[in-house]
Amino acid sequence: MTRLIKHSTDKPFIHITPSGDKVKICMCGVSKTYPFCDASHSKTKDEGDQLCCYDKEGNRLSSDEWTYQEDKEITDV
Ligand code: FES
Repeated sequence: MTRLIKHSTDKPFIHITPSGDKVKICMCGVSKTYPFCDASHSKTKDEGDQLCCYDKEGNRLSSDEWTYQEDKEITDV
């Protein structure tokens, strides 16, 4: 099963624990240590307004490698 999840942020959420420790939670969806941020969000900084797709390893696919249509799955081309 494939699941499409959209993330629109390019930086982590900073959670402060009761003891005062900072925990960075990944909000970009590209982290290899998800749900924790591993700084992979740097890959998303140049996305602009375009819709981007990343593979399981966090590599951005070029727009000629995939297509997206509302109400349909992402498909390889
Ligand atoms: S916010 Fe996703 S890796 Fe940092």
